[in-house]
Amino acid sequence: MSTSRTQFSTKLGILAATVGSAVGLGNIWRFPYEAGQGGGGAFLICYILFVFLIGVPAICAEFSLGRFSRSGMPVAYRKAASSRRWDFIGYASVIAAFLIISFYSVVAGWTLEYIVDSVLGLFQSTPDSSRHAQFADFTGSWKAVGWMVVFLLINAVVMLGGVQKGIERVSNILMPLLFLILIAFCINSLTMSGASEGLGFLFKPDFTKLTPEVVLGAMGQAFFSLSLGMGCMVTYASYFGDDTPLIKTSIRIALLDTLVAIMAGIIIFPAVFSFGMSPAEGPTLVFEVLPNIFHAMPGGRIWSTLFFILLATASLTSIISVSEIIVAFLCDDLSMSRRNATIVVTAISIVTGMLCSLSFGPLANLNLFNLFDFISSNILMTLGGLGICLFVGWKMDSKEVENQLRHENGHKNALYRYILFCIRYVAPAGILIVFIAGLL
Ligand code: PHE
Repeated sequence: MSTSRTQFSTKLGILAATVGSAVGLGNIWRFPYEAGQGGGGAFLICYILFVFLIGVPAICAEFSLGRFSRSGMPVAYRKAASSRRWDFIGYASVIAAFLIISFYSVVAGWTLEYIVDSVLGLFQSTPDSSRHAQFADFTGSWKAVGWMVVFLLINAVVMLGGVQKGIERVSNILMPLLFLILIAFCINSLTMSGASEGLGFLFKPDFTKLTPEVVLGAMGQAFFSLSLGMGCMVTYASYFGDDTPLIKTSIRIALLDTLVAIMAGIIIFPAVFSFGMSPAEGPTLVFEVLPNIFHAMPGGRIWSTLFFILLATASLTSIISVSEIIVAFLCDDLSMSRRNATIVVTAISIVTGMLCSLSFGPLANLNLFNLFDFISSNILMTLGGLGICLFVGWKMDSKEVENQLRHENGHKNALYRYILFCIRYVAPAGILIVFIAGLL
């Protein structure tokens, strides 16, 4: 066990890095369109239930395994089980990580294009009616592929430079700023003509919309947004100090992450209804709605520049955490140097990212973008979540789990028993039922 393994330097840094991983495109881009397709309020209620009944216990499980083993995937399982029998979950995580990087970097590339468009004032100079066609042209083009590559190269530079100090520092400053800006946008959206319709859509549940597929979608979204089920939190926890309170940190991540998703909904849906758009538009929703908001807003050019810089940064802190899973695997399991590992990850992701990006153009029939998203979030991450809960709940030495979870800064955490119960029973049963019903 490498006692010399790097660690995050401060508690705030740990929170900023883990929240930085959780908060990203999943909250601001994916949540609104998933909720839009899932009928709004009913989706939101399922989502929140999943976050707290399954998400928080699963983060605790990932944290326990990561800090105990001080390793990434799949070595963490191997150390805790003293056998290679559970390695397959770790390998599935690495595959899921590749799938996620592939489509995530495409959307992150779109945010870079939008930064440039904002600076040039393009949202102000083009009419709202042309957005749909313009965006469709852009996403299907090689320009979008170019931005995806730029994003992956920025990611590689940060990965090469050593994550902890860079990411910790960047996250400490940018995460609070992102919150402030989101609050400003929420207030702006509440003044729009479609505000009550939008808020009604988001907060008034219509349970007739709840099909098993929507419920599976809500669970997949909870896992995606919390960066769960693929060892991301295991890998980050392998860099935690011994005194980091695991349960408390998990709850904070879940609260902040959910807050950002709800704020994104409050920003998007009033605008969707004000501009006569359909909430069920799909992955392009946010990118077509936001320019309309910026067009109508006083000082829209500055706001939109700031917004997309923050969104790009939030995406960066997330994609770094996904890359870290693969880099940690290549370094810990295959003894590669960090530099070579980063090069391998970047090279493969550029190819798979290109295939996803062209899904909006020449490769529309193949649509790998949606396929990768579905396989990673709704299948691999949910099954990975099941695996980690079963492993930590039933296989890992229970004394060790108690050591990791129960004692926080010399105090006993009162929620320990509840969390353990959820890790052992509630989460596995919930995941299995929703997963099987959703797929059937
Ligand atoms: N949670 C991130 C987001 O919401 C995405 C992510 C998924 C990051 C899986 C790491 C692992 O944008």
